[in-house]
Parts: sequence; structure tokens; C-alpha cells
Amino acid sequence: MKDLFGNALLDYQNGNYTEDLITSTSISDDDVLPLSYLFRDFKDMPKLEQKALQMTKGNVLDVGCGSGSHSLYLQNKGLHVKAIDISQGAIQVAQERGVKHAKVLNVLKETETFDTILLLMNGTGIFQEMVQVSNYLIHLKSLLKRNGQILIDSSDIKYMYEDDDGGFWIDTNAGYYGELDYYLSYKGENEYPMKWLYLDFDTLNLACNTVGLNCELVMEGEHFDYLARLH
Ligand SMILES: C[S@@+](CC[C@H](N)C(=O)[O-])C[C@H]1O[C@@H](n2cnc3c(N)ncnc32)[C@H](O)[C@@H]1O
Repeated sequence: MKDLFGNALLDYQNGNYTEDLITSTSISDDDVLPLSYLFRDFKDMPKLEQKALQMTKGNVLDVGCGSGSHSLYLQNKGLHVKAIDISQGAIQVAQERGVKHAKVLNVLKETETFDTILLLMNGTGIFQEMVQVSNYLIHLKSLLKRNGQILIDSSDIKYMYEDDDGGFWIDTNAGYYGELDYYLSYKGENEYPMKWLYLDFDTLNLACNTVGLNCELVMEGEHFDYLARLH
């Protein structure tokens, strides 16, 4: 990983903002991801994220924390938060913004236990592909304290396969339709392609059941997105 994502966060944090991130996927064209969005405060967060933060309790793990927006809000409310990310730049920014316990760490290497584990801004993306979902869920479950919860958001992206005439062009011989290749570029440089997984609620629910987690639909968003609580 070149950590272009982290470089972009660092530029924004250090007052060197000149341009935004450009993202695209195997099924969609270029899209602008404004850096300011990655520094959003509570009032600018989607309702699903606000709801997740309101439901958060106890000792918290913020997985894939980015610049630390969710962690900072919870820390300011007096909660103990550990923020982790595989991006060195993201963790440096989270620390500079005041997140007290921020660490470069892959969630699969985490060993402490928590009352609430947060995975926000399409949290299932971190699972990368269907075959890895059980591994991640089993590991996340092992990080829960008694009565602990995982709050995770995602979207059913079936709508992205819809034709103008309302039909769908999903290839049923291919893998699950939410498995995408994800491309990111910043200042004209391309990051190595990544895998990124969107999971519809029913598929997440099924995967949870197979590993002994209860999966509850907390809230649906405005555009096929949802927040789930696993416990
Ligand atoms: C879409 S961003 C979300 C950032 C932040 N949660 C937000 O809402 O602004 C996903 C983040 O997850 C991080 N990430 C991806 N895989 C990870 C893993 N296995 N363990 C920890 N962090 C990971 C990425 O580096 C990135 O910062």
C-alpha cells in the first residue's frame, strides 16, 4: 500500500489541501471523495453514524478510524476509545487531532476486548470479499466483552446494476454482487487496487448466524444503506 489515503489526510490536516481523492470501482466511474468529508463532525455525519455513536457504550474500538472523527466525538463524551487503522498517515492525523489511543494495527491483529466495536463508512468493506467474512466476524466476536456489541454499516448495492428500463444485469455466475475492486487516486498517482465488500443486510445476517452472532437491523438510511448491531 502506498498510503495515498493517509497522505491525503495528512495534507488536509496540515493545511496543504489542494485537491480531493478520486475513487472508482469495477462497476462505477470516477467519483470525488472530498477530504473535508473525512474530517466531518457529528452534525455533518449521516444519520446512521449519528445513531451508532449514540448507541456506543463502554470501552470502544474504532476499526478503520481514518482521521478519527468518530473516536474524537466519543472521547469528548468521556468514553475510552482505541482507534486503529492500517494507514500510517491516518493514525498520525488521528493523533494530531487529539485521539489519545490511536495505533497502526490491522484489526485481525487486535487482541484486547471491548464493549463496543465500531466499523463505520461501509464497515463491511474491511472484510474485502465473501470468503473472508466468517474469519473477520469470528475474530471480531472474540474481541467482545460480555454483553458487548459490534455496530457496522453497509449498503445493498444491487441498485448499481439496474438498467434504465429497470432490469438488472447481475452475472449470476460471478461472485456475490457486492464484491468490488476499488481504485483510489490522489494528485495523479494511483493506489494499488483494493478489494472492497458491500453486504446487503440479509447476507450479513446469514453470515452472522453461522458464527453465532445475533444480527439486528437498527436503522435504514436514505440510499439502500443500513446500520446493524451484532451481539
Ligand atoms: C472508508 S475508510 C473509513 C474511515 C473512517 N472510519 C471514517 O468514517 O471516516 C476505511 C478505513 O479502514 C482502514 N482499514 C482497511 N482495512 C483495515 C484493517 N484490516 N484493519 C484496520 N483498518 C483498516 C482504511 O485504511 C481506511 O482508513
